[in-house]
Amino acid sequence: MSFLDFHRGRRLRTSASMRELVRENEVRPQDLMMPYFVVETDDKDFRKPIGSMPGQHQLSMKQLKKRVGEAVAMGMKSCILFGIPAEKDPEGSQAYADEGIVQESIRMLKDAYPDLIVAADTCLCEFTSHGHCGLLSPSGEVLNDPTLDLLAQTALSQVRAGADIVAPSDMMDGRVAAIRDTLDEAGFVNTPIMSYAVKYASAFYGPFREAAENSPTSGDRKSYQMDPANRREALREAEADIAEGADILMVKPGLPYLDVIRSLRENFDAPVAAYQVSGEYSMIKAAAQNGWMDGDAVMMESLISFKRAGAELILTYFTEDALRLLNG
Ligand code: PBG
Repeated sequence: MSFLDFHRGRRLRTSASMRELVRENEVRPQDLMMPYFVVETDDKDFRKPIGSMPGQHQLSMKQLKKRVGEAVAMGMKSCILFGIPAEKDPEGSQAYADEGIVQESIRMLKDAYPDLIVAADTCLCEFTSHGHCGLLSPSGEVLNDPTLDLLAQTALSQVRAGADIVAPSDMMDGRVAAIRDTLDEAGFVNTPIMSYAVKYASAFYGPFREAAENSPTSGDRKSYQMDPANRREALREAEADIAEGADILMVKPGLPYLDVIRSLRENFDAPVAAYQVSGEYSMIKAAAQNGWMDGDAVMMESLISFKRAGAELILTYFTEDALRLLNG
């Protein structure tokens, strides 16, 4: 064999322009969806840094409007809202209150930025006093079927407020069908459901629990979120959600589960979303702050990896940072 037979990969890497010419994937502003945490408070200027997520804040509605406005000016196309209510109760009633903090924030954002896609996380855990994603039995078991109606009411109130997408993240069985039925009956046949179809019981959600104040007061989420050891089970979860009417399939967390994203991409035609969760964000930020890695470079490398794995949409706390970088 002569040297001429060698694969000459380096020919296509000789300059930035050459590399660009043959580049397979790209991160575009419209691929990124930014999560925000909005707090129900009388303090209109409330803006509290989330210690474990450098650069992220809990925001009042007024501060949210301002921050979203800045991001929209940089090219942000979509965001997803998480709400922190003033009062929590065992039924999570503020999750489906028409004047709840998420519902009010959706109205405000759609009014201010009509072209922005505003998604709503549909779950009870930020609104329940016990911090679980569903109703609890007296013995502390998370009840599946009695929770479905509350989730459907939550989604309906969010869509009535103007949400463009609802994103159920609770992992109760049958919730996509329950939500679809309720939305259709109310005439919202055109509102898509982005299902957290494949959501693992992950320690990478650690910082989010500070951000959204949704830690379970007892137990954990392992009876409803998935076992990190399982990949085939992800296909069963995705299949069930598609059958129930999910429009977009989400995998969460992101980087530790790139194989699952790829599996979904290869097995389903629906759009696949990746959620780069709080812990993934915090690890990169912390290392960058210590000068241990180039934060911007690692951020972009992590984002392109989701595209390479087959996701078309990335939910990431890096959205604003990435837009800043992409805008040069
Ligand atoms: C709760 C929800 C969680 C996240 C999104 N929706 C936390 C959890 O399941 O405990 C995590 C997001 C993140 O860590 O960034 N329904």
